[in-house]
Amino acid sequence: MTAILAVSNRKGGSGKTTTAVNLAAEWGARGRRVLLVDLDTQGHAGLGFGVVARRDEPTAHHVFSRPGFALDDAIRPTASPNVAVAPADPLFDGTDVADRSVAALRRQLGAPAIRARFDLVILDTPPSLDLILVNALVAADSVLIPMIPHALSAEGVRQLTRLFFRVATTVNGGLTLAGLLPVMLNPRTTHHRDTLQEVGTEFGVERLLSGIRSDIQLAEAFASRQPIRDHAPRSRGAADYRVLADELAGLWTGAPKRQPHEIRQS
Ligand SMILES: Nc1ncnc2c1ncn2[C@@H]1O[C@H](COP(=O)(O)OP(=O)(O)O)[C@@H](O)[C@H]1O
Ligand SMILES: [Mg+2]
Repeated sequence: MTAILAVSNRKGGSGKTTTAVNLAAEWGARGRRVLLVDLDTQGHAGLGFGVVARRDEPTAHHVFSRPGFALDDAIRPTASPNVAVAPADPLFDGTDVADRSVAALRRQLGAPAIRARFDLVILDTPPSLDLILVNALVAADSVLIPMIPHALSAEGVRQLTRLFFRVATTVNGGLTLAGLLPVMLNPRTTHHRDTLQEVGTEFGVERLLSGIRSDIQLAEAFASRQPIRDHAPRSRGAADYRVLADELAGLWTGAPKRQPHEIRQS
């Protein structure tokens, strides 16, 4: 069975792409066959692995703009073991959507060619509340919501969770919340601790994952077009994404739920 994880938040700059790229690399290194689908026209998820679609090359967005297109044609290998990428179309602007169905992506990911080739599909999503994001939530089994623990972040999470519940109570009854992932975390900052406490109270402490500490090497890894585990394997960022991959392992194995959140001291 192929598991499908959407990484989403209404806010830009909340660590979605960094999380999608580094989880893909981590799980790939652990022997899972991973497909990363870049649904944000900025194309950063593909870029994180050094993959860019040139003009007229097939992309993930062609699922929406070209009737009869097969996602399979957009899939490319990366230098990371077991990780393939379907890059984004930077020219896609939402006005050239031929297939307005909310289930277009779900149909594509259900194709035997994809199911047979991959254990996991990770969807990196755009911040806008548009057809693409809805398609991702309709296609997914689980949603992971990265967020910066800051007072202003709660609204982006609320908007996403509203959409999550709308999709989970209508078209995609199987959709679950993989968790809220605090990113760019500085556990020594009282503001971060206070915000996490509030987020825990509002959304449930059992939904809070340990989180990813602030680490400039994550930005440097992206600039060098490599996942953190290759760029700086001994960094904080690499360690935290390993822990996250462990915490989310239950998504694929049905293992028991993790322990409630503890704020990690750096
Ligand atoms: N834990 C972190 N520590 C430091 N910088 C980070 C961290 N996570 C992400 N970044 C940086 O923050 C910026 C936004 O992250 P990104 O993953 O692109 O967010 P999004 O996809 O939600 O827009 C990028 O420059 C990225 O390198
Ligand atoms: Mg992004």
